[in-house]
Amino acid sequence: MNLSQRTYLIITGASRGIGREFAQQLSGRIQSQGSVVTLLGRNLPLLQEAKEHILAKSPLLTVHTYSLELATAKAGDFAKILEDSTGNGSFERAIVIHNAGTIGDTSKRAREIGDTDILQNYFHTNVFSCMSLNSQFMQVFRNVQKLIVNLSTLAAIAPISSMGYYCSVKAAREMFFRVLALEETAPDTLVLNYAPGMIDTQMTVQVQQEAHDPAIVALFRDQRESKTMLTAAQTTKRFIEVLEAQKFKSGDHVDYRDADL
Ligand SMILES: NC(=O)c1ccc[n+]([C@@H]2O[C@H](COP(=O)([O-])OP(=O)(O)OC[C@H]3O[C@@H](n4cnc5c(N)ncnc54)[C@H](OP(=O)(O)O)[C@@H]3O)[C@@H](O)[C@H]2O)c1
Repeated sequence: MNLSQRTYLIITGASRGIGREFAQQLSGRIQSQGSVVTLLGRNLPLLQEAKEHILAKSPLLTVHTYSLELATAKAGDFAKILEDSTGNGSFERAIVIHNAGTIGDTSKRAREIGDTDILQNYFHTNVFSCMSLNSQFMQVFRNVQKLIVNLSTLAAIAPISSMGYYCSVKAAREMFFRVLALEETAPDTLVLNYAPGMIDTQMTVQVQQEAHDPAIVALFRDQRESKTMLTAAQTTKRFIEVLEAQKFKSGDHVDYRDADL
């Protein structure tokens, strides 16, 4: 993967956690003049902070930030952001990192999940908005080499107690991107479902505080206390190694722990 090409990079959930670290480390690799980085999230001050960090290390980049609520975002919102941030630029590669995600209410057992208003909001945040952004991205970068990354998880391919909401959206998202990979031609469109491992972020703190299953709470607490939980920086470094080694096939699920480098 040649990250020194003139690149357009867009990342959702770039204000904190894994998304912010992906934005910072990937931007550090994209040095070509005319490259653009677009950061999405709701918290504009944090996005602005991430932008300043990136520009301090990579002053040649153009960095855009947009505050967007994914629970209600529509195709038109993504179209506008892409139009505004691409400007008149011409790019040799376009990358979208579908990173934003929420864990859902882990205090609920699967048998208690059924409020359609809550489900609508949750699926819009985690699945519909991601598909919508992707579709706009595919249109705008029709004739450009594309890398599409979905932040996946073990929970997309294995059931985990307390994670009825989360497992459902992550499985849906992963399957969607596998279909996309099947229909599009690699390497023009390369799709990767990357599972980052268990990372010390707000998401895992929330699981530890709210999960109804004591075994899950203990698992997260033990990893955090023993410092075996990974950092966002560690998983991002591994992700970049996976990209550089490029031993995955388009649509593959690659986990931090068993990445073929
Ligand atoms: N942490 C882990 O152990 C782990 C493991 C496997 C997979 N993952 C996946 O990795 C991704 C990032 O997780 P993380 O741990 O970094 O989570 P995090 O620290 O909670 O960060 C989530 C990001 O998503 C954004 N976001 C959340 N709700 C949003 C909404 N309604 N609209 C717009 N943006 C929203 C947040 O930005 P704002 O608050 O600014 O909106 C934030 O930047 C997720 O897809 C997650 O499923 C994480």
